[in-house]
Amino acid sequence: MTMRTHYCGELRSSDIDSTVTVCGWVDTRRVHSEHLAFIDLRDHTGIIQCVVDEKLDLRSEFVVSITGTVRSRFEGKSNEKLSTGEVELGDCSVELLSSAEPPPFPMHERSDVDENIRLRHRYLDLRKTRMQKNLRIRAKVNSAIRKAMEKQGFVEIETPMLIASTPEGARDFVVPSRLHPTNFYALPQSPQIFKQLCMVGGIDRYYQIARCLRDEDLRADRQFEFMQLDMEASFVTQEDVLSFVSEAIKDSVESITGERPGKIPTMTWHDAMERFGSDKPDTRFGMELIELSDIFQDTEANVFKVDCVKGILYPKGAEILGRNAIDSLTEKCQNWGAKGLAWFRVGENSSLEGALTKFMSDKEIEQLASSMGADAGDMVFVIADQRRTVNHILGLLRLELARPPVGEGGLNFLWITEFPLFESVTDSGEPIPAHHPFTMPHPEDLGMLDTASGAEYLSIRSQAYDLVLNGWELGSGSVRIHKKDIQAKIFNMLGIQDEEAEQKFGFLLDAFKYGAPPHAGFAFGIDRLVALLAGEENIREVIAFPKTQSGSDPLTNAPTPLDSTHLEELGLRLSPDTT
Ligand code: AMO
Repeated sequence: MTMRTHYCGELRSSDIDSTVTVCGWVDTRRVHSEHLAFIDLRDHTGIIQCVVDEKLDLRSEFVVSITGTVRSRFEGKSNEKLSTGEVELGDCSVELLSSAEPPPFPMHERSDVDENIRLRHRYLDLRKTRMQKNLRIRAKVNSAIRKAMEKQGFVEIETPMLIASTPEGARDFVVPSRLHPTNFYALPQSPQIFKQLCMVGGIDRYYQIARCLRDEDLRADRQFEFMQLDMEASFVTQEDVLSFVSEAIKDSVESITGERPGKIPTMTWHDAMERFGSDKPDTRFGMELIELSDIFQDTEANVFKVDCVKGILYPKGAEILGRNAIDSLTEKCQNWGAKGLAWFRVGENSSLEGALTKFMSDKEIEQLASSMGADAGDMVFVIADQRRTVNHILGLLRLELARPPVGEGGLNFLWITEFPLFESVTDSGEPIPAHHPFTMPHPEDLGMLDTASGAEYLSIRSQAYDLVLNGWELGSGSVRIHKKDIQAKIFNMLGIQDEEAEQKFGFLLDAFKYGAPPHAGFAFGIDRLVALLAGEENIREVIAFPKTQSGSDPLTNAPTPLDSTHLEELGLRLSPDTT
């Protein structure tokens, strides 16, 4: 038996005449008559109106227990906005459990409170419906993920927090060692190495809802600490991993929306870049990039005498965008790296109007309009440059023009496969890996490892894949290299000498000497998934105690200085410049 018989938000007409006890915080108090006052009592389920003695000193956020009889509200006094709006508690006896000082900010929903103040008093902010809803969505998602992984035979293994550096490519948070002065632990950027060691250890199917730490610049979708569903499996293919993760994702979504998403479509990285100009396409809307290079093969227009010409069609854009708006879009494109932005208003009979038409032949104008599928009132934007730049700029312009807000347009999950193995090449000709150095090349491109040089490296595909949701990168994974000869070749290409490989990843390479099964895995960001399911733009809204954009915690004041005794114990001396 707890201190209550019911939650505040549960009471309905069917409870009329029963005597109940509810507990919670005083949301508001209104004087009703000379002797009586209305109290709206709040807990995480909602609000119930209670009629109490006017003389009682009950102020906002006081904690009380109220026992009373459920009764119908007077004719015409029901409140449709409340789930309990048809009833109230009468004949109330009130027990004061805690008094409270006036809260430092208004407690009504969505009042515009500065984020620093919200986080400084997060325990008050958590009382609001928005945070209550978001944290409960998060708990449901965690639970659905656990069940989905267990049902598929995955074993939950906890990996350590105090480790040596991991190869995820961000900056490590480090912890000085007291027992080993001058030495530091790194906090895990992910459990990557350990989950691969679990595969050598015969765990077969590992998962963990893992806390990861990365010292990187914070943004709406990035925190220092975040949670991943991390998984790895042995004797499986890429298809198997996609299927395991899809199941966890579908179960999570179903647990929140009540609807199970269909099969998650797959697109190659190459197609994503060509069609959407992004490796994380937002497919909630069309406006795909259209190839126009052929049309301008023999053009007289200097702007179009380049490697690649592509365009996007903004439906009804000519009716929406004035000259100032176009100028500001042009400026944006230039900031993103474009030389300029060509634009054409579409008139009657697909005629085009724009500054560049005078340099174009009639045939070019006609073909441009028909390739773009342009109708009167539409706007055509064209970028001409190197292919990479064209795709990049049009991808960003597409989002700028038409991206729906978070929470609208449905949940468009998408697998992106066949990521390039290398993302760029250094001046000295060494390729830089796109993922970590244990990513297995695409079987059809293995031969190129021996023959490629310079820019050819960039066309070697890997067995790495991402999961995308509404234009956010939700997760990444790959089939791993488990064969010594391929690994040696990759290290060699990356310019990682034996000694360096030994020092950085020696324990993993050692483990692989003793029989490594073929294995593959994946991790997706739980904060990001929950934010999108909750319709939030910022992952801070789905984390109980997040850091601010500048990486501090206004509640505990972290990070804080260390006193000199503590520093000494750790064998640390601060440089004079930093004190
Ligand atoms: P990756 O580094 O792509 O892959 O991370 C996987 C997912 O984790 C989430 N994520 C973050 N979320 C919030 N704040 C951050 N700072 C942050 N950084 C990453 C993203 C991202 O897609 N070990 C590999 C996975 C593997 O290969 O199995 C890894 O960690 O949603």
